[in-house]
Amino acid sequence: MKITKSQIIDIIISSFRSNSEKFIKLVFSDSYAKADISKIILKPISIKSEELIQFESFKDNKAYHENLNISKSLEKIEDLLDNFKQILIITEGKTYQILQNKTFFNLKQINNNETLKETSHNKEKNYILRDGVPVDFLIHLKIMGENGKVYKEKYDKFKQINKYLEFIDITIGELKEKNLISDFIKCIDFGCGKSYLTFALHHYLKNLTNLKYQIIGLDLKKDVIDTCNEICKELQCQNLEFIQGDIKDFDKLQNVDMVFSLHACDNATDYAIHKALELNAKAILAVPCCQHEFNHTIPKNKDSDFFNYLAPLGKDGILMEKFASLATDAFRAQSLRLCGYKVQVMEFIDMEHTPKNIIIKGVKAKISREQLVKLYGEMAVYKEFFGIEPVLDGLIRGYYRILE
Ligand SMILES: C[S@@+](CC[C@H](N)C(=O)[O-])C[C@H]1O[C@@H](n2cnc3c(N)ncnc32)[C@H](O)[C@@H]1O
Repeated sequence: MKITKSQIIDIIISSFRSNSEKFIKLVFSDSYAKADISKIILKPISIKSEELIQFESFKDNKAYHENLNISKSLEKIEDLLDNFKQILIITEGKTYQILQNKTFFNLKQINNNETLKETSHNKEKNYILRDGVPVDFLIHLKIMGENGKVYKEKYDKFKQINKYLEFIDITIGELKEKNLISDFIKCIDFGCGKSYLTFALHHYLKNLTNLKYQIIGLDLKKDVIDTCNEICKELQCQNLEFIQGDIKDFDKLQNVDMVFSLHACDNATDYAIHKALELNAKAILAVPCCQHEFNHTIPKNKDSDFFNYLAPLGKDGILMEKFASLATDAFRAQSLRLCGYKVQVMEFIDMEHTPKNIIIKGVKAKISREQLVKLYGEMAVYKEFFGIEPVLDGLIRGYYRILE
């Protein structure tokens, strides 16, 4: 049966709105422009409670993603209808197969038993990058093959990258909501190492947001930085640069929006937090690693209340080590709160895949004087209980809002 372009749009609009015949998928294939995008798959997704349509475009065996709201999606669909010979619309209960020749659209409609899977909480949705969909930096870093299939032995890394992107997605949403950023974002990854996560951030900002961006990765190791810059060149990554240097000395940028410190060992996390404050960071994401400081300093004061009240914890090395590392991160979280950040401490990746990690996330917030007084008091008691003077305290004391 012949059908007009506006009737096709009507089918799509009603499936976007319908509760009984929900939109599941739309596929554009067999492009008129052979050398260009070969296929585009549209699916509903929900990000931070906003209902969006994800456009997944395939070009030269690579996938590019764009998430648009409903009205922008309809504008784009209208343009795309002119460019593809085959259009497949799948809704709950109906499949519409549309073929276009140069003069008209021909529709075949059949019933189906498809149902829309949960778009906001299921694992498939939460995976911003998907197994089976080629992404250039993941191919280059040998996490997936050319066909997009993730290598079995790299699945943990793949999961971790996805989890990291989820945190970024949520944090950027918060920064926008609070008007802390508008259409541009400046990011630094301190201790970027091989930069899987820095490249992931670049991919995300470039392909999954409308933000303009600048990203710097910094690391002590020259060979690592050279390799990252080579990859950057090969993948033609714009606005991404890797610099060799020590976090403590970094002075290339001011007023940074997001600072990352991922798996920086021991006190390197503290230096990154200090530098982030110096750079007036709007958001800080830190995944600490090898937190040795408290484990060394707590046992030095055997007269402290810690040994008075919690002596059994100090008797076995492994317990002391685990306890001290949590105590260090609790101190970091509290310090950031005192510096005027809303802080959340969350699990970074689950136990099944890599050893448990935590992420400390701080986003600038208004904190009342009353709250600051309370936080400061808690901090003083905490330090006295353990009998310690943490390195971080010395570094960032000047940023405690209560002392302003
Ligand atoms: C365990 S790696 C983590 C790499 C990457 N962030 C990740 O999560 O995959 C820690 C990196 O931090 C770097 N690093 C440690 N202290 C640093 C400092 N003070 N300044 C710059 N880089 C530092 C190391 O050279 C190393 O590459």
